[in-house]
Amino acid sequence: MGKIAVIGSSSMDLVVTAAKRPGAGETVLGKSFTTVPGGKGANQAVAAARLGADVHMIGCVGEDHYGQAILNNFRENRVHIRFVEMITGAESGTAHIILAEGDNSIVVVEGANHYVRPDSVRRAHSIIAAADMVMIQQEIPAETVEYTAALCAKLRVPLILNPAPARPISWEVIEKASFLTPNEHEAAILFPGMSSSAVLRQHPNKVFITEGERGVRYFNGVKEVLIPSYQVEPADTTGAGDTFNAAFAVALAEGKGIEESATFANRAASLSVTRFGAQGGMPTRTEVEQARL
Ligand code: RIB
Repeated sequence: MGKIAVIGSSSMDLVVTAAKRPGAGETVLGKSFTTVPGGKGANQAVAAARLGADVHMIGCVGEDHYGQAILNNFRENRVHIRFVEMITGAESGTAHIILAEGDNSIVVVEGANHYVRPDSVRRAHSIIAAADMVMIQQEIPAETVEYTAALCAKLRVPLILNPAPARPISWEVIEKASFLTPNEHEAAILFPGMSSSAVLRQHPNKVFITEGERGVRYFNGVKEVLIPSYQVEPADTTGAGDTFNAAFAVALAEGKGIEESATFANRAASLSVTRFGAQGGMPTRTEVEQARL
């Protein structure tokens, strides 16, 4: 069983479904409203645990009803929460999601995720030193990402940096990360002025550009490889990227090769979109292995 440490956000997703996305200044009638656990960090931790990894979450929640619900959800999914802090006086992070016209739009309010600081990572030093893989995203302060990248490089623990949501990242951090998993939009912000192919060639077996329903693309040192996605009937694509990252981490942490890990990750991500909610469709290990895709 691979040991994975996830450093990142834990939020409550407030999801509205509607036939149409409102434009600026427009009001539309929605169909439903649901609250479900989310946050890119928490999603990746839950997905990795469902796939059989031993997962520690390093994060923060607010001292509110959502914070309690987020902690309960970690417990139900067997994610260790010794390093998830409840911040006195803070509100939990929230993501305000509109599902319309087959896609989502998301506004994230960071809340307690603002307190996921280098100190939070320092406190979890022993967990990080013992991990087979560390995962981090960008719904937490940039200095925490920088600190974690330096720590993982020093400890020689592999790090997957999922640069979502997009913001510029220094070359030092990019160099220290073992794997980067931007989507096409994030890749354009990380590597301005470069084509996807040029980015991939510059970072063989390191940068994996996720292209939604087309699959994931990387350069294997000899040629560009596209690992295609599986064709499924999507119900909700929220959390597909998180499932991809988690499954990729789980497979790599178990010692699988790059191509096998990316294929496993694509299978898991494809299954994740078939049910509602970021975590609603995240599959178990058995579901990934037995799915007829
Ligand atoms: O990646 C999906 C996640 O992004 C959602 O669960 C929401 O919390 C946003 O942060």
